[in-house]
Amino acid sequence: MPEQTPILQVKNVSKSFGDLHVLKNISFDLYPGETLAVLGKSGTGKSVLLKVLVRLLIPDTGEVYFENKHIGGISEHELNELRKHIGFLFQSAALFDSMTIGENLNIILAKHTKMSLEERVARITESLTMVGLAEKIDEMPAQLSGGQKKRAGLARSIVLRPKLMLFDEPTTGLDPITAAQIADLIESLQQNLKIASIIVTHDLPTAFHVSDRMILLQEGAKVYDGPADLKEMEQTHLQDFVEAAKIGHGSIKSDDTVVK
Ligand SMILES: Nc1ncnc2c1ncn2[C@@H]1O[C@H](COP(=O)(O)OP(=O)(O)OP(=O)(O)O)[C@@H](O)[C@H]1O
Ligand SMILES: [Mg+2]
Repeated sequence: MPEQTPILQVKNVSKSFGDLHVLKNISFDLYPGETLAVLGKSGTGKSVLLKVLVRLLIPDTGEVYFENKHIGGISEHELNELRKHIGFLFQSAALFDSMTIGENLNIILAKHTKMSLEERVARITESLTMVGLAEKIDEMPAQLSGGQKKRAGLARSIVLRPKLMLFDEPTTGLDPITAAQIADLIESLQQNLKIASIIVTHDLPTAFHVSDRMILLQEGAKVYDGPADLKEMEQTHLQDFVEAAKIGHGSIKSDDTVVK
């Protein structure tokens, strides 16, 4: 897709916390409609990278451009406008416990749009229908299962119809069948809404299922950026991905105890 303008450009981004060098000179582009999976062992900087993309964290060096706009150089107001176009499903996607599922979506529309009540109800219903939760609109988060909560979080992150979605571990903590359903859902959202996405995951089946391209981070550096295609992926890279996926389900300590 070289003639298209990238929706996102990441140029030479580095980020440290004190002596801990987390991200090391990361660069990549993302094109409209493209789905990129980011893999890497626990603690390698994947969540930090997503936060840098929306300026929740500021990189020490390097730049991030959203639709050619340098997000480091814009005002707080412009940043808030820009963030409306970016949906973020956080690793711990918390809903407001004291509000119904519908209200959880409504506060976002009420805050960020001038939609009428009728328009908001229509958009909320449409978003919940996309994730198969229309009938839960008046329920409280505590009444939902883990997978349903993830789906409600997903509905909330798409309610403003973003151009870019950032998913941090959308399937972690779910059983394989529910995880596969979430992956199907992410794929169908992309097809229906034509959203560009970045998915951070340890879940290799999900990564291969939903992504066009994959990036592998090792100790904060990008060591693979290429097609999500087993045939094209060299054996060494595949091994690295499998390794990253394994550790993600809990780090294996020397005594073989798996800690979450
Ligand atoms: N705000 C912060 N202040 C200090 N250190 C941080 C901060 N955020 C992250 N780190 C450190 O940066 C490193 C990378 O963290 P990050 O959350 O990006 O890992 P990750 O790749 O997402 O791991 P996981 O797969 O377990 O979610 C970790 O060592 C973490 O302790
Ligand atoms: Mg993380």
